[in-house]
Amino acid sequence: MCGIIGYAGHRPAVPLLVEGLRRLEYRGYDSAGVAYLQNKGLQVVRAEGKLKNLEHCLTECQHLQATCGLGHTRWATHGLPTTQNAHPHQDEGQNIALVHNGIIENFQELKQSLEAKGHHFASQTDTEVIVHLLADNLGHQNTLPKALAATLHQIEGSYALACIHRDYPNEIWAARHSSPLLLGVGQGENFIASDIPAFLSSTRDVVFLEDGEVVRLTPNSWEVFSAADMQPVGKTPQRIEWDLQAAQKGGFKHFMLKEIMEQPQVIQDGIAGRIDDATQEVVLDEIADLPIPGRLHIIACGTSFHAGLWAKYLIEEWARIPVQVEVASEFRYRQQVFQEGDLALAISQSGETADTLAGMRIARENNLPIVGLCNVVGSSVARESDGTMYTQAGPEISVASTKAMCSQMVALLLLAIAWGRKKGTLSAEAAQQLTGQLQRLPHTLSTELERMRHAAQRLATQFSKARSFFFLGRGLGSPLALEGALKLKEISYIHAEGYAAGEMKHGPIALIDSEFPTFALAPQDSLLPKVGSNLQEVQARGGKIIALTHPGTDIPSDERWEVPQMGSALDSFLFLPALQLFAYEMAVYLGKDVDQPRNLAKSVTVE
Ligand code: F6R
Repeated sequence: MCGIIGYAGHRPAVPLLVEGLRRLEYRGYDSAGVAYLQNKGLQVVRAEGKLKNLEHCLTECQHLQATCGLGHTRWATHGLPTTQNAHPHQDEGQNIALVHNGIIENFQELKQSLEAKGHHFASQTDTEVIVHLLADNLGHQNTLPKALAATLHQIEGSYALACIHRDYPNEIWAARHSSPLLLGVGQGENFIASDIPAFLSSTRDVVFLEDGEVVRLTPNSWEVFSAADMQPVGKTPQRIEWDLQAAQKGGFKHFMLKEIMEQPQVIQDGIAGRIDDATQEVVLDEIADLPIPGRLHIIACGTSFHAGLWAKYLIEEWARIPVQVEVASEFRYRQQVFQEGDLALAISQSGETADTLAGMRIARENNLPIVGLCNVVGSSVARESDGTMYTQAGPEISVASTKAMCSQMVALLLLAIAWGRKKGTLSAEAAQQLTGQLQRLPHTLSTELERMRHAAQRLATQFSKARSFFFLGRGLGSPLALEGALKLKEISYIHAEGYAAGEMKHGPIALIDSEFPTFALAPQDSLLPKVGSNLQEVQARGGKIIALTHPGTDIPSDERWEVPQMGSALDSFLFLPALQLFAYEMAVYLGKDVDQPRNLAKSVTVE
């Protein structure tokens, strides 16, 4: 996790670094720091807690002459979130400052050997080892690039790192291995950062760095090298089309709310260019060259995993392809049984989730073709896939993922239709009905969202005292129930469990009493009577029920929450924002930090 930024240019560096860190805070926010070169000296300012603490410390520093520097916002992996453990870290001679995102796996043994040589460490972090090692190598290698190359050969694990040196003014050296790092190319100024919004207000020209690459940047130049031999690597900047406005709150109180409310547009963007106007058939050019799988392995984490579970129902029903959906952290360490015709589908909003990438690499080692479904253009998932379907949701800033899941469901629904049509297991009429419904969906959803928000607000005032919640559903409602529980727990810190409703009587129902409410997903479909029976069992034990349902259903409940019926899988697209809004309003009512919930980070780039 963590966010890093570096600037070499002609403007005061520190305000730009702080602005960049603000846009990277979603990657971690338990401490922050900057380093800058001023009057031939290296200054480091760090603070525990959120960025505003660092800003407060900076008001007492002279920094406006500095035009080169580094910034870091941390999500702790090794060592407590204290000032001492905050980045940038320095060598003992205070010549080098270094920021790092990732985990150095062999840091203990490196630390021991450095301590044996007389190095003294000031923090508990794995990162500090890199800067000591760099200083040590500099003693033997005499130039910073040579010392950096030697250091990169010695460290194992994942890193995006950047450093500045007192004797190399206006120069930043950075390297990447298994953690995101991009170069922003400006006029008389250049940036390095973990993510594009960090420098998007200054430049739209981006160079995507690959694993094993090193970059040197100065105000007027940038060069990329291969870490293996420090030979230059040719790179071309790409132009980013979306703007900062898209990455800002746009009048909403929280990014999470903005992103929930954007879902009609997300659906519109997700289908744009993917449904043929004349035939109404789904056209997925991005993966047209890849085979239709005999079996599909979906690899993902968290909310993306729930989207995968949801898609399993559609792909198996419409395309008759057996689907295994597994959290990537389990997939990567299990003895998989692959067979001829298998294909892997990696789902990831960020495209940088470490476990998902590791799962993809296992699929690659076993010669499976890989389809990547991700939101971030140029991300690792996109680059390591044989074909990438972009979900086109725009930047998702809120730590709790919302519109990304909606966009993933749109893409997965289209994929299930496309494969079903190619295999002939889904009729043209059925496919046309689905695509037609999908095209009408943005309008229906946009007219409903505000009403849904009011319903969520009303329920939040009634249920905010609950200490625990069940979320129950069947069929497509079952993965949505898991997602509803995840959203509630991550932003309101209320304990919540998502269950397939039929599982209740196999144990969980023991927990039900008048203090333990249930949020039921009860769409008007063939499974409704079954959900109704499960809810009767809950009611018989004194449990309160919120039923998210369609007009005209007859089910036990204390609170009915009706949303319009779209039919078939499309109903999920109204249930999902209802669950998100419920979690959101509960968290707001309880006064929680909605966009930056405790202990979390947006992009989980460590195992
Ligand atoms: C939950 C959430 C996480 C992510 C998970 C995977 O709100 O955001 O569970 O879904 O960390 O992230 P991506 O999709 O970026 O691989």
